[in-house]
Amino acid sequence: MISSGLAVSFFLLLHIGAQAFEILPGDSLNHQEITERAILNATLQACRSLALTEGTNFNFPAQPFTAENVAAACGASQSSKTFRLAILSIKLRNIRVDIRYAFNASFHFDEEMFVQGKKIITDGLVAVKASNKMENYETARQKLGEIMHPLQDFYSHSNWVELGYRFPNSNLIRAGTSIGNIADKSRATCRSCDGDDCTNNILEDIIAGKILTSGYFGVIPLVSTKPSGKCSHGGPLDQTSKIEPKGGINKDSFKSSHGNLHTRAADLAIAATSQMLEDIRLAAGDTTFLQMVGISRGSSRALCFVTDTSQSMSDDIAVVKTVTNSIIDSNKGTENEPSLYILVPFSDPGFGPLIRTADDTLFKDIVNHLTATGGGDNEEMSLSGLQLALSSAPFNSDIFLFTDAPAKDKHLKNTVIALIERTQTVVNFMITDSIVTNRRKRSNGNQPQTRMIAESDAQLYRDLAQASGGQAIEVTKAELPAATTIITQFARSSVVTLLQASRSLGQTDSFNFIVDETVSNPTVYITGRSLTFTITSPTGASQQSTDSTGSLITSTTTVGNFKTLQLQKQVGQWGIRIESDNPYTLRVIGQSPVDFLFDFVEPSEGPFGGFDSLDTRPRAGVNGRLLVSITGSDSATVTEVALVQSSKGSEETLGVVESQGDGNFLVQVDVMPVVEFVVRVKGRVQGSSNDFQRQSPTNFRASNLTLTADSENIFIPGTLLSVPFTVASNGPDGNVTIRASNSGGFESTYPTILFLEGGNSTNGTVTLSDPKNTPSGSDVILTIEAESPDGTDSNYIMLRFSIINSFNDFTHPECELLNRESNCTENCSLTAWEIYVRVTDSEAGVDRVDLIQGNGTFNTSLEAGNAGITLVSYAASCCAPEMEMLVVDRVGNVGTCRFTARDSVSIGVSQSLFLCLSIVALGHFIFKLSEH
Ligand SMILES: *[C@@H]1O[C@H](CO)[C@@H](O)[C@H](O)[C@H]1NC(C)=O
Ligand SMILES: *[C@@H]1O[C@H](CO)[C@@H](O)[C@H](O)[C@H]1NC(C)=O
Ligand SMILES: *[C@@H]1O[C@H](CO)[C@@H](O)[C@H](O)[C@H]1NC(C)=O
Ligand SMILES: *[C@@H]1O[C@H](CO)[C@@H](O)[C@H](O)[C@H]1NC(C)=O
Ligand SMILES: *[C@@H]1O[C@H](CO)[C@@H](O)[C@H](O)[C@H]1NC(C)=O
Ligand SMILES: *[C@@H]1O[C@H](CO)[C@@H](O)[C@H](O)[C@H]1NC(C)=O
Repeated sequence: MISSGLAVSFFLLLHIGAQAFEILPGDSLNHQEITERAILNATLQACRSLALTEGTNFNFPAQPFTAENVAAACGASQSSKTFRLAILSIKLRNIRVDIRYAFNASFHFDEEMFVQGKKIITDGLVAVKASNKMENYETARQKLGEIMHPLQDFYSHSNWVELGYRFPNSNLIRAGTSIGNIADKSRATCRSCDGDDCTNNILEDIIAGKILTSGYFGVIPLVSTKPSGKCSHGGPLDQTSKIEPKGGINKDSFKSSHGNLHTRAADLAIAATSQMLEDIRLAAGDTTFLQMVGISRGSSRALCFVTDTSQSMSDDIAVVKTVTNSIIDSNKGTENEPSLYILVPFSDPGFGPLIRTADDTLFKDIVNHLTATGGGDNEEMSLSGLQLALSSAPFNSDIFLFTDAPAKDKHLKNTVIALIERTQTVVNFMITDSIVTNRRKRSNGNQPQTRMIAESDAQLYRDLAQASGGQAIEVTKAELPAATTIITQFARSSVVTLLQASRSLGQTDSFNFIVDETVSNPTVYITGRSLTFTITSPTGASQQSTDSTGSLITSTTTVGNFKTLQLQKQVGQWGIRIESDNPYTLRVIGQSPVDFLFDFVEPSEGPFGGFDSLDTRPRAGVNGRLLVSITGSDSATVTEVALVQSSKGSEETLGVVESQGDGNFLVQVDVMPVVEFVVRVKGRVQGSSNDFQRQSPTNFRASNLTLTADSENIFIPGTLLSVPFTVASNGPDGNVTIRASNSGGFESTYPTILFLEGGNSTNGTVTLSDPKNTPSGSDVILTIEAESPDGTDSNYIMLRFSIINSFNDFTHPECELLNRESNCTENCSLTAWEIYVRVTDSEAGVDRVDLIQGNGTFNTSLEAGNAGITLVSYAASCCAPEMEMLVVDRVGNVGTCRFTARDSVSIGVSQSLFLCLSIVALGHFIFKLSEH
């Protein structure tokens, strides 16, 4: 619904107590801080474990841990932006639970919904593990954030802390286990608080019997569903706490009913979240886990190609091969080594499959085997290929698309723009033999071309490049190799954008940008024909495009419509004035650890305040908000955030910046621009005497249409997925055009036209059906678009679904000792022991067996004829009489097996991980109720 006066309600909501751990900064620990601390802790554990495996040193950073010092300790400082982005994504999904599911007691462990709350966690964990296995990390992060919320709330909303426990309830993340004795629905659990003193309101027999209960919660006065004798959540919003037994038991903040226990509850929530992350790490392996949190070796950049493979493309494909081989060979083992490789081929009618791998040798091999074949008439499925790449590339990537043909699938233009905006991906087009270059070729006496791109077809690519902040490079096939320097540049680590602008009507204009101390290799890219420019340095010196002897530009390359200028590094404000009768784009980049990331957010209209990230365009003409984080520096502050009109003038809308702690800033603008804009951030690193300037390459638009959709984010193969959505507008009455598109190629049905009364809303439903054989852990991005009746405005909503086959397998693999030979005596150094073990899994099959303790010779092989069974042999000196191995099945159920030189086998869940479990024979667990 459209609502005005949001600014007022936002600030009121800031001060209302939250139902869960708070979601806004304050003295108490909130969901964001709990989540961040646990992720930092778990990431350090993963990096330490990886270092142990690799035999390298690992040093914990100084406290307090931050995304910066943790990334540095992991030897991955260049990953600090992707790390922060991953943390932010997880946090935003966590706090969304309080906004979307405010009154769903199961998501908060309210009202003794223990079974339901636990099912949310364990089902979600299955989805996270499946997504990781398919390397769909963003989907994994989103689900992870969602299930962290109930896990953390358990410690605030239940009486676990009051029962005296000092460790997390590990069985909350283990399907098929008991989390303890839950109070019967009819059993009284609380008495009224004694005036202000609310510390002893849980009944003694509940405490003595170690019975679990949680508080009831309701915001509607007089109507309460609280059964007699039950505890309430408590706090000013909770109406149930005003009827007998009065008062509450939550520990959300220091001011809560049981606020004296807030710190213990929050610490347990951190420990429980760490433990869940550890379970995910053991299931995924260290490297995969680190990728999920955005930490990788090398540049943390993806090398991402979308290439036309139709017949006329053999020259271009040769260039893709050359540049791939050169980037991989020259950067191997350096901080410029790409951490991910993506390739999507397309022709007509085919496109894909998507190839995505971190294995450079494999990628080289695949690229080197690309051939130019097929392709139908003159048009190819370029946008389908691009849609696939955009759906699976990490956020903030640069994609390079090679083609010499028009798009056959032009209808995907808006979907592609939606994906560009939501993922802040830059798309650069390498267009060979467009009509402009052809004309020149023919005048050079070359053979006439058999295919060419008309001006209007090239314009589609230029529009998409412009929307993303990329270049549409138009060159002849012969010139293409010289244009690929841009690819090499963007594969490097820490590339930041200082300025990006475009002028579609070819106006003469001047632009400014700041080069700060941290920036190296400042480089200017200009695409456009017949233009001249003048560059001015901070000291006022200037150099014109015609002047080849000046000292400001250290080198110039021109190929086709594409110019690259390397600037001398001089700290301060630079200017560039461009004169042209044609359209042009300008992008100034450099390398610097300091960058920013941001998301548009919207204040919640629900009872608990907070803000929610948008999956849509922000609203035009009303106030808007961004959550901005500075990366690469713990001390940097934001001094200015502006929304800058991007394609005509340079009109700016300044925002009001408010620090949120942890390097995050909330920025508010009074009126969102009604024209396209980019986001520009200025800031200051402590100790520096100059501001830095960074800019989003992505061009954003606001819209007068709003789209909302809420649905289950899990899609079970063989079923239909219904996604109800609502469109609203404050414009005149009319028919809104609806389009739905998904990255999985699944069949869908939806209304193509919806009548919308101005100021009102209307509903529709998209129904997706998928082929039954989609593997578990695949994901699909659904984009629903709505276009205003006059066609001038549009909005979209982008939703991610994971495809999960089954939630019913929760047994981990078992170990069977086949044989043990041991001649251990007193003098251990002369003696040895050896075991043979068969590892089986009753459902999914064994995925991985890793040695986690012991330094003997460890070998695994698959049992002949049964790939789901693993055989292990282990031989060690009797001086090391113990070994432990991790056993993981294909859906990520994790167990461990311990063997010793003499004693019998014990099977269980890693003891270091699950301190509170005592392990007895045959994998049965008993909850130990005493502390240890
Ligand atoms: C950090 O993680 C480890 C391993 O999961 C866990 O044992 C420890 O309790 C965690 N630390 C905190 C402060 O939660
Ligand atoms: C939204 O509505 C306002 C006022 O009616 C109009 O000026 C603006 O152009 C519209 N924005 C878009 C993106 O259509
Ligand atoms: C909206 O579409 C319906 C069905 O196509 C049509 O009958 C109606 O006249 C349209 N209304 C407007 C205002 O265009
Ligand atoms: C909005 O549309 C619905 C369904 O057409 C209608 O029932 C309702 O009265 C309308 N509301 C307003 C405020 O016009
Ligand atoms: C649209 O759906 C929402 C919730 O799904 C419902 O509250 C609303 O009344 C519906 N509106 C119309 C016009 O049907
Ligand atoms: C123990 O067995 C190992 C190999 O199994 C053998 O090399 C070693 O000589 C034996 N030692 C004794 C004391 O028998």
